[in-house]
Amino acid sequence: MEAHGERLHAADILSQLAAIGLEPDGGITRLLYDPAWRQAQQAVARIMGEAGLSVSTDAIGNVYGKLEGTDRDAPSFVTGSHIDSVRFGGQYDGALGIAAGIAALSKLKQSFGQPRRTLEVVSFCEEEGSRFPLAYWGSGNVTGCKPFAGSLEAADAQGVSLREAMAGAGYDPSAHRDCRRTDIEAFVELHIEQGAVLEREQREIGIVNAIFGQRRYFVDVEGRSDHAGTTPMQMREDALAAAAEMIVRLRKAALETGDGLVATVGMLEVSPGIANVIPGNVRFSLDIRHREETAIEDFCDRTFLSFSAIAAQHRVTARYTCWLSELPSPPMDAELRERLARICDASGYAHLEISSGAGHDAGLFARICKAAMIFVPSRGGISHSPLEYTAPEEIERGCDVLTQLLYQLAYGEEGL
Ligand code: GLV
Ligand code: MN
Ligand code: MN
Repeated sequence: MEAHGERLHAADILSQLAAIGLEPDGGITRLLYDPAWRQAQQAVARIMGEAGLSVSTDAIGNVYGKLEGTDRDAPSFVTGSHIDSVRFGGQYDGALGIAAGIAALSKLKQSFGQPRRTLEVVSFCEEEGSRFPLAYWGSGNVTGCKPFAGSLEAADAQGVSLREAMAGAGYDPSAHRDCRRTDIEAFVELHIEQGAVLEREQREIGIVNAIFGQRRYFVDVEGRSDHAGTTPMQMREDALAAAAEMIVRLRKAALETGDGLVATVGMLEVSPGIANVIPGNVRFSLDIRHREETAIEDFCDRTFLSFSAIAAQHRVTARYTCWLSELPSPPMDAELRERLARICDASGYAHLEISSGAGHDAGLFARICKAAMIFVPSRGGISHSPLEYTAPEEIERGCDVLTQLLYQLAYGEEGL
């Protein structure tokens, strides 16, 4: 598509957002309701306003920019992604989908004026699960797919509850169910691939067909703190020694299972954490993913059996708390996938159907409406890292595909 006049570009919006939550040693940290998060959502609202969109913020801090259609009663087409990041994350994960959505709506408004059907771009408040032991706080509340029972009492690493964090950021904690939407016809998310398939296959666009399921647990190992110098090796109840064996066993079991199953321990807390004290307590995280729920279930059952055996050998106990259980997504909408493939063919973009090992807001929308995802390549497949990178021309291509799809959906004409 040719641009007409001045418009906002995704790469420029992205670099504005990349300055917010930037860590001194590199990487971006924007955690739900923290100061960087607030600043980022304020910047998103300002940029949406500059794009000529009507801006609103819902009860939990999801920010919307709307380009109202002439057919006001028809459901909306929504694009966007999440503004939060992992700790020390990259600048593209989530933020790119928001920047691309604003750029797309800005361009469509400037080039073609008011659409027939309403278009919206959303900046979801949370998707990563990096501050509180919950994830999809944004799209989970909007779709109504997640009950979030008891979530307001969930605490972050500093002991601050979600309820307190919400109130501190100016949101009414009891109002989180008010942001449910039932007037969305389709959700389309542009995202970096976060893997290396597109790069390896030399394709420019990925058209996502489905998203893996995942479970996240805390494993709490309880032993007995004791003196490092006086307690003979055979008499110890060393929680860390047991946890270390569990972690090694987990990796071996995942490798043996193969078939795309992945298992990760990304967080480990050792207590009391003193050089001359045998660790009495250890908490570590588990993240397990596969395209099929039964594979996840079998793997978890086997894992916990083996962990309990290891615990017994060390005379410690192990407890398993599941805090995220995300089923594999239903397939992305077939008609939207076909449209995306046709757009890519007509534009000369090499494309590929791809499944996603990373979780995405679009996976929740696939449960309540049509959903589609467009992937652009990640250099070296690296993500959740300051090294995340996608070239400006790759971003432009992804935005072009998104813009063309939204045009077809909202302006009711084929082939820009
Ligand atoms: C979110 O990015 C996830 O898949 O962990
Ligand atoms: Mn992520
Ligand atoms: Mn993401």
